Amino acid sequence: MTIKNAVVPVAGLGTRLLPATKSQPKEMLPVGKRPVVQYVVEELERNGLSRILFITGPSKYSIENHFDVDPVLIRYLRETAKEDLLSELEFERANLRFFYTRQKMQLGLGDAVLHAEEFAGEQPFVVALGDTILGRHANSTMIARMCEVFMSETCAAVVAFEEVPPEDVRFYGIAEPETAPSDGESFVIRDLIEKPSPAEAPSRLAIAARYVFSHHVFAAVRETRPGKGGEIQLTDAIRLLIRGGERVLGMKLPPGERRYDIGNFDSYFRAFMDFALFDPVHGPGLRDYVRGLLHEDG
Ligand code: UTP
Repeated sequence: MTIKNAVVPVAGLGTRLLPATKSQPKEMLPVGKRPVVQYVVEELERNGLSRILFITGPSKYSIENHFDVDPVLIRYLRETAKEDLLSELEFERANLRFFYTRQKMQLGLGDAVLHAEEFAGEQPFVVALGDTILGRHANSTMIARMCEVFMSETCAAVVAFEEVPPEDVRFYGIAEPETAPSDGESFVIRDLIEKPSPAEAPSRLAIAARYVFSHHVFAAVRETRPGKGGEIQLTDAIRLLIRGGERVLGMKLPPGERRYDIGNFDSYFRAFMDFALFDPVHGPGLRDYVRGLLHEDG
């Protein structure tokens, strides 16, 4: 059996990116040439997923529109001799089936995932956060490796982790691994702590926005009480799985692969710079421009 179902939560309010997100989803902010969520969907397709459920919310219609085939735009490009731009719309033809459901109230990521229960049934499924890109050129194969581990081990979840600097642990769910993990190997998670201070943090392994779950996660989310910020946290539901005796495994992003979190301006600006400066067409000129700017600055 292979895992075909993926869930992409995109219902969050994105308040840390105001005013940019006042009337548009943060998942549609451009990073280089594409909106964030397009990278996420392309990553899922490349990793063998074929059915994608978006958990959407208010002001998120542009995400649905983005993945529709747009015959009016295609005709316009043909009639105005702009055929070369048609290649920019090839993602519309991906061999994927899209499903959409709305999270009625923004009660947290755990609650958003609970909305996938009917879609997933008793099949394992992937969760990929719609505001996070994986891999230097968005070319990560992490999810395929996580699915392989999930299928070959007895476990209720496999969670991706990135090693972050000590000052960044307070932004993420942090793992307490049973033994120090080595690159490419899965490891058993003893516990998780949501957004700890550097002093409280049991490691520097931060949850990196990709998960594989068995359907047992739904019961765990239902038992989860509101945590930090009054929200139902997915991290707390995973802790309940562990406390209930389920095996939860972690996998570290391989060296050279990184996570771009488009949830705050600092990491959004960095992600945009990284993708724009290394764009095959626009990158070289842009790098000269930035060198000039920095030179002027002294
Ligand atoms: P965040 O934890 O960044 O929360 O969401 P947020 O509400 O979007 O942003 P802030 O904190 O107000 O700035 C991580 C991912 O989970 C989704 C978001 O859309 C994002 O892709 N999410 C979050 C939901 O789908 N529903 C929620 O209730 C919360």
